[in-house]
Amino acid sequence: MTDSLQLRSEYPLQELNTFGLPAVAEYYTEIHAADQLEQLEQWLKRHPMPLLLLGGGSNLVLADRVPGLVARILIRGWHRSDLSASHVRLRVGAGENWHATVEKSIEQGLYGLENLALIPGTVGAAPVQNIGAYGVELKDRISAVEVFDRQEQCLRDLSPEACRFGYRDSLFKSIEPERYIITAVEFSLARQFTAELSYAGLREGLGHDPVTPKRVFDTVCRIRREKLPDPTEIGNAGSFFKNPVVSADLYQQLKHRFESLVAYPDTDGYKLAAGWLIDQCGLKGFSLEHVGVYPRQALVLVNLGAARREDIERLARHVQQMVQERFGVRLEPEPRFYP
Ligand code: EPU
Repeated sequence: MTDSLQLRSEYPLQELNTFGLPAVAEYYTEIHAADQLEQLEQWLKRHPMPLLLLGGGSNLVLADRVPGLVARILIRGWHRSDLSASHVRLRVGAGENWHATVEKSIEQGLYGLENLALIPGTVGAAPVQNIGAYGVELKDRISAVEVFDRQEQCLRDLSPEACRFGYRDSLFKSIEPERYIITAVEFSLARQFTAELSYAGLREGLGHDPVTPKRVFDTVCRIRREKLPDPTEIGNAGSFFKNPVVSADLYQQLKHRFESLVAYPDTDGYKLAAGWLIDQCGLKGFSLEHVGVYPRQALVLVNLGAARREDIERLARHVQQMVQERFGVRLEPEPRFYP
């Protein structure tokens, strides 16, 4: 039996977005089970309006007023099944907390998510921007994404290929952002642990003791806590800019001018460390009104208290301008601005 949809109007979202912006939703509802989505669709048919799906609210920059309906996805669930002698399928509800899922998978002897520890947000939001950290991207661990297809009005599984994952990008973020509601994510996890240690900072943090899944998990948590602000203490949305990808030509020119430039080879050229570019402009710790550049990681903008979307936009523009002037490179914001 499906619980009927509870709708609220003029609902405060300040506690539901990690930037802590004082947004108010015109309408708000919570989805606890996939079968409530049909009701949601019926309601939207009778009252046509924009729909914003909310997970952990950790990648959002909201305006003061959010027109239309905000639906917070709180679908729970944890189902494991054997895939092969070496791998297990784990299907997790979209509303489960990401970090708790990583922790629980390791406790159950299922490996592959350790490097993605402590990323804020929910399981269902993870594929939208293909979360990644310390040498692992979500796309490397996914076997399917379960969605409610709003066009076909049915639940179905999308293969990883169909999700068109890219660097902090996917079908859900930039190709068909309106069409699907993610209800669960299925991971393919290994019974045998293989450490992914391509990220130098992680190797260094692990030192010389034997590498276990728990030690990788703990080390990733420690590195993140050292560099990144805890959104429950200081409002932020993680990396505010993507690391820009530039051509090999431009990379060579920049490397010639700036010897210590931090860059990694990428399929389309070179990925530059945006944090380094911003840092070089002397912006670490810089603030404008209620928003600042985090002193320990220049890639993160933080709410110094009472920030509104306009304050974030103003500082973001300033950062973009400085980086553009000095390096001729355009920084693209990572979080979603809504509306
Ligand atoms: N750097 C500076 N100054 C700074 C920040 C960075 O010089 O203020 C330099 C660092 O010394 C390092 C390089 O820039 O040599 C890269 O920095 P870091 O290793 O901290 O990683 P990042 O490129 O800034 C990316 C992701 C993070 C992810 C880390 C680790 C993006 C946009 N960000 O950050 O993801 O945790 O790598 O893999 O790709 C997020 O998306 O919200 C996020 C935190």
